[in-house]
Amino acid sequence: MTMENFVFQNCTKIIFGKDTEKNVGNEVVNYGRNVLLHYGGGSIKKSGLYDTIIKSLKESGVNIAELGGVQANPRLKLVKEGIRLCRESNIDFILAVGGGSVIDSAKAISIGVSYDGDVWDFYTGKAVINEALPVGVVLTIPAAGSESSPASVINKEEGNLKRDCGSNLIRPKFAILNPELTYTLPDYQTICGAADIMAHGLERYFTQTKDVGFTDRLLEAVLKTMIQTVPLVLESPENYDLRAEIMWAGTVVHNDLLGTGRIEDWASHMIEHELSGLYDVAHGAGLAVVFPAWMKYVYKENLQRFVQYAVRVWGVENDFQNPERTALEGIKRTKDFFSSIGLPTTLAELEIPDDKLEEMAEKCTANGPVGNFKSLFKEDVLNIYKLAR
Ligand code: NZQ
Ligand code: ZN
Repeated sequence: MTMENFVFQNCTKIIFGKDTEKNVGNEVVNYGRNVLLHYGGGSIKKSGLYDTIIKSLKESGVNIAELGGVQANPRLKLVKEGIRLCRESNIDFILAVGGGSVIDSAKAISIGVSYDGDVWDFYTGKAVINEALPVGVVLTIPAAGSESSPASVINKEEGNLKRDCGSNLIRPKFAILNPELTYTLPDYQTICGAADIMAHGLERYFTQTKDVGFTDRLLEAVLKTMIQTVPLVLESPENYDLRAEIMWAGTVVHNDLLGTGRIEDWASHMIEHELSGLYDVAHGAGLAVVFPAWMKYVYKENLQRFVQYAVRVWGVENDFQNPERTALEGIKRTKDFFSSIGLPTTLAELEIPDDKLEEMAEKCTANGPVGNFKSLFKEDVLNIYKLAR
């Protein structure tokens, strides 16, 4: 397989830089008059961002309804509350102020408002997205890339399910990215976000598609930027330039440009979603545990790609006599890096016991095998969970 045909159309307007959130109202009025302001558990009130947003919205003359309280790993129950509120208040635009969880919750509300059935139908494949209210974003954590992605990931309380759905119709209309808004992130959220950004690169890097050297190089740029920048930002959380690098990398790696022409993998994300579905762990922390285990399990499927990764991303010396050693060193450095910035890399560190590994493997593969680098069946996924213990 060489480079695949593709269509790339990302219509999210990116507004990047200092003070950009102060003019959010000017963007909102392009799409609606009755706005739902959607946010999380309170960080935006503590930081003062909430007041800035309200001021700008008021100045632009829109009507404001509010729904806060989005939890990390956003819940279906609040989505349904949002849908009710939108119908009652005739909402025509949703402004998500926060991270991936808030944005994904906003996207879920946006597709549920005009749908007569249960909004969860979109997440099981029972319904297809044909209509959505427009959504805009003020991003406060670089991580999920949801600010310009076509996906939404929601947790359903019954059954502890975490599932996603997607459509170009739910790509945000605009995303305001001010790196200063990320200064208040606790270190743990910074590193979890970093793991997610890197994982979005890795899911695309590990492909069986040949001759995609240009996007290989772009992905390597993201990974190397993160490897260089994250340790520094932990030392200097209020360094604008470091925060800016991470924020832009996080958007670009997941806006679909870097997946053009190549078949992406996504097994590690599916395997992780069972962890954050069942145990409510941060998505990025789950990925730091799953990815190195996945790598160990699949590297022989395309040894040369793992050698390239080790050499170009981690600067491992290429052992031509023993390519396997080079590949394994790249995997080791990935895991060591995650540990070095403070992430968990084993299920034990996440305090996840062994007793539900089989159940998670079953749920993960309920609709068939996962992943494209290597198709993984239930036994494979179980083996990966075991490798991650
Ligand atoms: O709720 P608040 O109080 O705002 O606190 C949040 C939350 O506790 C806090 N936070 C965010 N910005 C902050 C801040 N604290 C201080 N200062 C700030 N500036 O950070 C915590 C985590 O927020 P969350 O939105 O959950 O983080 P993230 O952006 O990592 O989103 C994770 C969700 O996105 C999904 C994940 O599965 C997970 O549910 N994903 C969505 C994707 C997509 N739609 O394209 C792709 C990803 O692969 C991912 O699956
Ligand atoms: Zn992710």
